[in-house]
Amino acid sequence: MDKHFLHIKDLSLEEIHELISLAKDLKTKFQNKEDFKHFHNKSLAMIFAKPSARTRISFETGFTWMGGHALFLGPNDIGIGKREAIKDIARVVSRYNDMIMARLFDHAHIIELAKHSDSPVVNGLTDYNHPCQVMADILTINEHRDSLDNLHVCYVGDGNNVVHSWLQLTLRLPMKFTCVCPEGFSPDEDTVKLAQENTNSEIVITHDPIGGVKGADVIYTDVWTSMGQKEEAEEREKLFADFQVNNDMITRTGKETLFMHCLPAERGRETTDEVMEADYSIVFDQAENRLHAQNAIMVALTS
Ligand code: CP
Ligand code: NVA
Repeated sequence: MDKHFLHIKDLSLEEIHELISLAKDLKTKFQNKEDFKHFHNKSLAMIFAKPSARTRISFETGFTWMGGHALFLGPNDIGIGKREAIKDIARVVSRYNDMIMARLFDHAHIIELAKHSDSPVVNGLTDYNHPCQVMADILTINEHRDSLDNLHVCYVGDGNNVVHSWLQLTLRLPMKFTCVCPEGFSPDEDTVKLAQENTNSEIVITHDPIGGVKGADVIYTDVWTSMGQKEEAEEREKLFADFQVNNDMITRTGKETLFMHCLPAERGRETTDEVMEADYSIVFDQAENRLHAQNAIMVALTS
């Protein structure tokens, strides 16, 4: 593995499979309450410029279970890029802490943080991507399907940070990936182009919520307005109205389909209570697997 965990595209296919396998192993150990003190006497700095439930709780719980100490640093503690230069923060924090997890706005800031940090940096979400999420997602799909071969994942909604990490996963893991989004809300052009140039996967970007979902093994959605965009919520609600993942849409795949959402969900907007609570919804397995996927990432970075 690279020194840092910043993007899915930085991993090889072999490393992705190794992370999935390590995550399964650590999940069993965690569930059996086994001792696994890989991070004894080590500390993790968790820098959050944005809110979080899953990321904060799973990183802190995981690092603590593995024998270490995790520090929560919220938006008012560090003021990354405001109170002090990022390159100064990187050098100071990495003298105290063995690993840094950061959730930041600007993707360039996490690159800068990693560039100047002596300790491994894990990307806990930026405006551009969310690689820890997608490692948890693929682990979850793997647990629910015998194999990752011939997978068709259809993402419905805003072409956002989660989609960019999925597009990067398609560079390594062959699959069909469809993004069904309103016009004007497609994912980043360069990321799509890179994914489409890779002929091992099939990438479809469409604005058709009826035909686009056909044949999908997984329908995945996320909020229509990400953190930092909430002032656009009202306007987007109208533009995204046909893109709600409801039971009708799931039926239109024409096959047995799993429903996924990175959470937090805004029930009644991008999806419904009925879908969230359905038998085919695996959103809570997905949330649980954040813990195990990230434990694997942190162990792999230090092994
Ligand atoms: N999915 C996810 O990253 O959740 P949080 O924003 O609550 O951390
Ligand atoms: N796209 C969402 C993901 C939250 C986990 C956001 O960035 O707010």
